[in-house]
Amino acid sequence: MRRIVYLSTATRLMSDTELLEVLRVSRENNARDGVTGLLLYSGGNFIQLLEGDSDAVSAVCARVEKDPRHHRMLIMLDDESAERLFPDWSMAFRPASSLSAELKQDIADFIAQAPDEAATRDGRRALRLINNFVQSMR
Ligand SMILES: Cc1cc2nc3c(=O)[nH]c(=O)nc-3n(C[C@H](O)[C@H](O)[C@H](O)COP(=O)(O)O)c2cc1C
Repeated sequence: MRRIVYLSTATRLMSDTELLEVLRVSRENNARDGVTGLLLYSGGNFIQLLEGDSDAVSAVCARVEKDPRHHRMLIMLDDESAERLFPDWSMAFRPASSLSAELKQDIADFIAQAPDEAATRDGRRALRLINNFVQSMR
């Protein structure tokens, strides 16, 4: 199983309707392709986790990378994993407004330091952030 986390910036602020349309298409395609994951949208930035067969994840990434609705895609983590973090979600979604103050701060810090860390693709902070997020959903 391949797991990718990337950060990107919306080319312009997305309305709820536009976000829902991204989610609708993503959920449909990802269910078909056996891809699961999470999309966070906060202050004009996206953080997305994608997991599934390597070929399927590559195909989604190739499509998403070309999408003009966002740009400056930084791969924060590109790793192999035995288990899925989001086995039941073709694409879980949370707007920043529904997150705790602590998690919002985590996300802001993550985004601020992302350009430095993307080069190393160490991914530890990306995974910590996602894990905190998963805990907060329980
Ligand atoms: C931030 C963001 C995340 C996206 N995530 C996915 C995704 O997880 N899966 C997917 O199929 N498309 C995703 N898309 C949409 C793709 O860029 C593309 O529009 C879509 O896959 C095309 O699907 P179609 O060929 O069925 O029309 C995302 C787009 C954006 C802007």
